[in-house]
Amino acid sequence: MKAAIRRSYGSFDTLKVETIEKPTAKDNEVLIRVYATTVNRTDCAVLMGKPFIMRFFTGFLTPKLPITGTDFAGRIEAVGKNVKAFKVADKVWGFNDLGLSSQAEYMVFPEDGAMAIIPESYTYEQAAASLEGAHYAYNFMNKVNLKPGDKILLNGATGAIGSVLLQFLKYYNLYVTAVCSTKDLELIKALGADRIYDYTREDFTEDDEKYNFVFDAVGKSTFAKCKALLKPGGVYISSELGPMAQNLFLPFITKVNGDKKVIFPVPSDIKRTINFIKTLIEEEKFKPVIDRKYLFDNISEAYRYVASGQKTGNVVISFENHT
Ligand SMILES: NC(=O)c1ccc[n+]([C@@H]2O[C@H](COP(=O)([O-])OP(=O)(O)OC[C@H]3O[C@@H](n4cnc5c(N)ncnc54)[C@H](OP(=O)(O)O)[C@@H]3O)[C@@H](O)[C@H]2O)c1
Repeated sequence: MKAAIRRSYGSFDTLKVETIEKPTAKDNEVLIRVYATTVNRTDCAVLMGKPFIMRFFTGFLTPKLPITGTDFAGRIEAVGKNVKAFKVADKVWGFNDLGLSSQAEYMVFPEDGAMAIIPESYTYEQAAASLEGAHYAYNFMNKVNLKPGDKILLNGATGAIGSVLLQFLKYYNLYVTAVCSTKDLELIKALGADRIYDYTREDFTEDDEKYNFVFDAVGKSTFAKCKALLKPGGVYISSELGPMAQNLFLPFITKVNGDKKVIFPVPSDIKRTINFIKTLIEEEKFKPVIDRKYLFDNISEAYRYVASGQKTGNVVISFENHT
């Protein structure tokens, strides 16, 4: 089978499509024919081993998993003898932010991993594009107590995380001011933003309106710059560590000092995210934003584009023999 392989941490040039032996499912695993995956910012971090803290999980000096990939949508081809919850021909999707070797024609996955049956109306490509950003977006929301009437400032509304977070917040009828660049104004309007800032023309930190939450889904702001936007008791969450990794220690400082808080959204419970996103899809309240599609053989190019930080939503990888 074909697989995207790297044997050391590095940039997209280290990634090569090679032909290797197909894996076999152990007793508690399923064998999946992968039909779609994405290249996302988590994949870039796993590929490069940056931020360094990731290496405590992905391998200190060299990557534990030579095959890249963190999400998949595909069809079960074989099941181990102890597997009860899935059967051959089930269409499944799943995610693991520490890597699961899904950028390959076949992969194995444990029955009890973060995997579910794909919603009936969904294609493999749509399913793959509904996982990574959704997981982090859901983890922003779970860290706070959102109430009817709350106002949220969402920076980076066009990213994989931001484009989902906007839809989640509108699902709960919350008021959202979203920040994006000129080319995506129409998209962000269509996703339901109540007000929009074009960051290429205006500085959202000078907004006179006050918010219960500032969610920076692209990690380009700082708490210091956004503090004045928050109402008393307001909360700032960023998807990035910040220029001096301050978003890791500010939660402790702001907990004891001042009435505006910082929370770092450590992601957890992927199964819970998949169940939530499935509910929204079934209620027709969510659509993944897909920017570009690449064929698997061109996966290095996809990494190059994603690492630029300019994608809108998701970049999908599909396989030539996809049916
Ligand atoms: N904490 C975690 O566990 C975790 C997990 C995954 C990702 N991340 C981080 O979270 C960030 C976002 O991830 P993502 O996957 O959503 O990103 P993404 O899909 O790469 O999207 C970033 C988006 O932000 C827009 N953007 C760029 N500069 C901006 C600015 N100054 N103001 C507002 N928008 C801007 C880009 O479009 P334009 O350039 O066209 O405006 C792009 O649409 C990344 O830094 C990533 O490393 C953190």
